[in-house]
Amino acid sequence: MFETNTYIERRHRLKKDLQSGIILFLGNDLSPMNYPDNTYPFRQDSSFLYFWGIDLPGLAALIDIDENREILFGCDPTLLETVWTGPQPSLDHYCLKSGLKESAAPDQLEIELKHALEKSRKIHFLPQYRPENLIKFQTLLGIAPSFVNNFVSKSFIRAVVAQRSIKSRQEVEQIESALEITSEMHILAMKRSRPGILEREIVGAMVGLADSSGIAPSYPFIFSVDGQILHNPHHKNIMQTGNIVINDSGAESHLHYASDITRTFPVSGKFTQKQKEIYTVLLNAQLKAIEAIAPGVEYRDVHISTCSQIAAGLKSLGLMKGDVNEAVAAGAHALFMPHGLGHMMGLDVHDMEDLGEDYVGYTDTIRRSRQFGTAHLRLARTLEPGFVLTVEPGIYFIPGLIDQWKAQGKFENFIDYDKIEDYRDFGGIRIEDNVLVHDKGRRVLGVPIAKTVEEVEALSSQNL
Ligand code: GLY
Ligand code: MN
Repeated sequence: MFETNTYIERRHRLKKDLQSGIILFLGNDLSPMNYPDNTYPFRQDSSFLYFWGIDLPGLAALIDIDENREILFGCDPTLLETVWTGPQPSLDHYCLKSGLKESAAPDQLEIELKHALEKSRKIHFLPQYRPENLIKFQTLLGIAPSFVNNFVSKSFIRAVVAQRSIKSRQEVEQIESALEITSEMHILAMKRSRPGILEREIVGAMVGLADSSGIAPSYPFIFSVDGQILHNPHHKNIMQTGNIVINDSGAESHLHYASDITRTFPVSGKFTQKQKEIYTVLLNAQLKAIEAIAPGVEYRDVHISTCSQIAAGLKSLGLMKGDVNEAVAAGAHALFMPHGLGHMMGLDVHDMEDLGEDYVGYTDTIRRSRQFGTAHLRLARTLEPGFVLTVEPGIYFIPGLIDQWKAQGKFENFIDYDKIEDYRDFGGIRIEDNVLVHDKGRRVLGVPIAKTVEEVEALSSQNL
């Protein structure tokens, strides 16, 4: 946990922002995989971690702003439980660390909320994503699970987003500690990949590295020679000479701050000419995007100018044609880059996505585009010092999408479909870094990881 004052101050600001009413937090429970005692690894809810810091299942917490009370609900493990789990610190121990004076048994929460409902007091809660917690709302507030998220508190969401969007020095340190292991994972993957082995052999080695450092992956790794499948969950291909691999993998720090890095490299250690050309277009666009990051800059503008940069590069290779800016305004580039430039990152890899992406990445005046491609941009709003975000452009050749657009004659004035046939089996590439916005500009977080053609070839031609 951070120092006690961190949590006291975060809750203090939250109370000030919401002014009155009751603020309800449900922590996460252990979730069964195939029978009750065989559970998925525990992951605490990120807002619960942010405001209370306690990384244990089965907790809830409540702030009564008007009566100035903060209560943690949970139980101490029984002696019988500790026979199986070993001795555990008491709830009082955690209360002290979180700066709390009051704790109560879980069933007291229902009673507290019943009193509040009788007095028609405002009860603020956040959007829920775990079935176990959705079900609890039936007993706690009389709301059926499928209706819970219709009653969330928008002022609570906005207050949480306002605080969690600005990372403190200690939060940035956590992200950078996650990046240390992530960097090792990426270096290991480049060195160990070679023709004839399965993708999952490398994934296993990267997970093992995170595990042996006592930390977890921050999301399921994307590691595939089928990089054109954006969130490819499979690792079953045998890597072959001539393949390029996308490695999109990150780990969590001990306090659960994420990292999210993507590198693309040739399995055999040497890019083909075609791969090198596309890689260079992408790398230049990614470097330029990072350069453009500064407070006061709209991230949507950075997204659009990066897409134009990619379109210009693809035009120079004969894959696109016509006026580059017109092509991007029309959305033609999205055949090659159908996703957004990046997202906020913090306690979640897509930070606060559970609260609603539009609260995190958009404002009342900067609204989400409906155009395919730009519609998937997760972060569009004006950047502020303290934001940590990803910069992750990609170039993909997605056969299904190419065939559909070609059959529809879509954007024929901007796309050379005949030329694309030469790239049909290219796959996809993505390059991603994690960037802190600060007063004077930006800083790429973590130790630099091989990124130029020469650096990537030098590492991936080694055989660890
Ligand atoms: N790392 C996967 C993503 O950003 O969606
Ligand atoms: Mn990402």
